[in-house]
Amino acid sequence: MAKDDKKNEWKEFFWNPRTREFCGRTASSWGLIFLFYLAFYIFLAGLFTLTMYVMLLTLDDNTPTYQDRLATPGMMIRPRSEDLEITYTKENTESWDMYVQALNRFLSPYNDSVQEQKNHECTPDKYFIQDDSGNVKNNPKRSCQFKRSILEDCSGLYDRYYGYNDGKPCIIIKLNRVIGMLPGKDGQTPSVSCGPRADDTDKMGEVVYFPRNGTFNLMYYPYYGKKAQVNYSQPLVAIKFLNMTLNTDINVECKINANNIPTNNERDKFAGRVSFKLRINSRN
Ligand SMILES: *[C@@H]1O[C@H](CO)[C@@H](O)[C@H](O)[C@H]1NC(C)=O
Ligand SMILES: *[C@@H]1O[C@H](CO)[C@@H](O)[C@H](O)[C@H]1NC(C)=O
Ligand SMILES: *[C@@H]1O[C@H](CO)[C@@H](O)[C@H](O)[C@H]1NC(C)=O
Ligand SMILES: *[C@@H]1O[C@H](CO)[C@@H](O)[C@H](O)[C@H]1NC(C)=O
Repeated sequence: MAKDDKKNEWKEFFWNPRTREFCGRTASSWGLIFLFYLAFYIFLAGLFTLTMYVMLLTLDDNTPTYQDRLATPGMMIRPRSEDLEITYTKENTESWDMYVQALNRFLSPYNDSVQEQKNHECTPDKYFIQDDSGNVKNNPKRSCQFKRSILEDCSGLYDRYYGYNDGKPCIIIKLNRVIGMLPGKDGQTPSVSCGPRADDTDKMGEVVYFPRNGTFNLMYYPYYGKKAQVNYSQPLVAIKFLNMTLNTDINVECKINANNIPTNNERDKFAGRVSFKLRINSRN
């Protein structure tokens, strides 16, 4: 008996034919609830859209709002291998061909003809300032030519193997882009210098830089961002190892010398410097 009552109670709760209630509510009550939630969610969606819109209004297309992490530009080498190790056997073409290919690919946008077509011939040794005047954007901004022929023996033009075949390899160094960075204070030009680490002092041998003074010319700065300066070509410095000891690991560290770029950040080992390992094996 009690069991039957309970069953009926449930049944009635689900659908009560007397009051025409479904789950304890009339159709109009349910309708109001749906209406309420519909309005509520539309309101939430509207709020989200409005917030997003206002936030996007505060962003500038051309400069990131926050880039404090990049205050010190990182340095990187080409050819770039997984753990910054360049190892090969001089007599074994296959062991260094990939480095040559990588350099060819990396330098192809620096082809003299490409640069002449895309970029502007700037006045060297001073910043190429192209500021906006107030809200009027001075876009697109021009970029300066960096022709691969500047890299002479490391350009791949006169020595298509970049010295890899005779144990005098070229490494190309680039400084990552930082929007607005002016890397030389008081007109000092930033330059790259590389040296052996720790125990490898007498193994590195003589090196030569291209351009000869190892500098990143001031005319390539400041960088205004990908959108404003579409054709920007990062300046490069190449280093050629002329007399390195064969069949041994040589740890090299390259640093930027600029009076306003610190290179001793303990946490970021690529801040203004880069370390790599070189090893050339020879069967002779
Ligand atoms: C220019 O680059 C292309 C590949 O992008 C290459 O095939 C060509 O040989 C290059 N020309 C010169 C003069 O370096
Ligand atoms: C960028 O390069 C293209 C050719 O590739 C050229 O037509 C254009 O004018 C250049 N833009 C600027 C701002 O120099
Ligand atoms: C470095 O060399 C380049 C050309 O090789 C020259 O234009 C530039 O003025 C030199 N910079 C300094 C600081 O000597
Ligand atoms: C090359 O380095 C060796 C020592 O590793 C040295 O004896 C030799 O004189 C150097 N050659 C040149 C041309 O500098």
